[in-house]
Amino acid sequence: MDRLGSRHQVLAELRRRQGEYVSGEELSRKLGLSRTAIWKHIQALRREGYRISASTRRGYALLNIPDCFYPEEVMAGLRTSWLGRPFYYYDEVGSTNQVAKDLADAGAPEGTVVVAETQKSGRGRLGRSWFSPGGKGIWVSTILRPRVPPVQLPQVSLLAAVAATEALEETTGLRPGIKWPNDLLLRGRKLAGILTEMRAEMDTTQYVVVGIGINVNLEPGDFTPDIQSLATSLEVELGRRIERLPLLQALLYHLEGWYERWQEEGFAPVAQAWRRASVTLGRQVRVVTPDKVYAGRAVDIDEEGALLVKDEAGRLRRFNYGEISLR
Ligand code: BTN
Repeated sequence: MDRLGSRHQVLAELRRRQGEYVSGEELSRKLGLSRTAIWKHIQALRREGYRISASTRRGYALLNIPDCFYPEEVMAGLRTSWLGRPFYYYDEVGSTNQVAKDLADAGAPEGTVVVAETQKSGRGRLGRSWFSPGGKGIWVSTILRPRVPPVQLPQVSLLAAVAATEALEETTGLRPGIKWPNDLLLRGRKLAGILTEMRAEMDTTQYVVVGIGINVNLEPGDFTPDIQSLATSLEVELGRRIERLPLLQALLYHLEGWYERWQEEGFAPVAQAWRRASVTLGRQVRVVTPDKVYAGRAVDIDEEGALLVKDEAGRLRRFNYGEISLR
């Protein structure tokens, strides 16, 4: 067994005891490793951030796991059946969306997930950048290969927004509102954003990369001055640190669930859930498109996920791209 393999086994044994002590002798017998090798693995695990108590009499006990996205930690509590396999974990990348797109171009399967602790050039919608400081958020991209024509792909962004609100509600009790198409807001400030990028030919979809960024443990001073008044985080809202691992696991679980439902039942259930979580519908909005700004009342989304806006003259306009501001 290689060293990483046996370290994994030591960890698995400790995990199985759920905080109870296991003697070095028992570990050594069970895993076929010397006592010195066990001790070295314990030290390496501690360097990775695992809190392990060591007592000469009682042996070792796992007290706490680190709040980072080591694949074995993510896998240990993942409730999905295919999303997250394979799972790529990086300490630092430019953009997880870019990594995922490169993987998808090279043939990576549906379900591939890329997570990084830090993004050096995280990307946002409409050519913006996305601030992604180390260890403070969830910066994740997933590769999906839906069997639908490209016109239906905007629906994937909406279903991802619905999945993210459910994951947030499950793990924190907070219910973010969705601003069309897929910004998650709390108290009017942006908590999370979604960037979907795709490769498609005329009428066939090769893949969609769904990139989700959630501000988890950013403190007010962490935000750059340009976004300080516009953005928020779970820590800011709840006044305490939030464990990122269960949130990532819940996010993948709800994303898989909504994606499967969408493939089986179509857009109607997604649209219904999206409408319920929406903070856009019924509001006066401004829609900013590359060439013009339109004002009106957001009345609904249509069967493709486009926003329908009625202006003062009663004219209905349809927007499938762009950005709105709520008034
Ligand atoms: C937006 O609201 O503008 C979309 C933000 C999307 C950010 C995420 S973080 C993970 C993934 N990788 C990126 O470079 N962007 C997305």
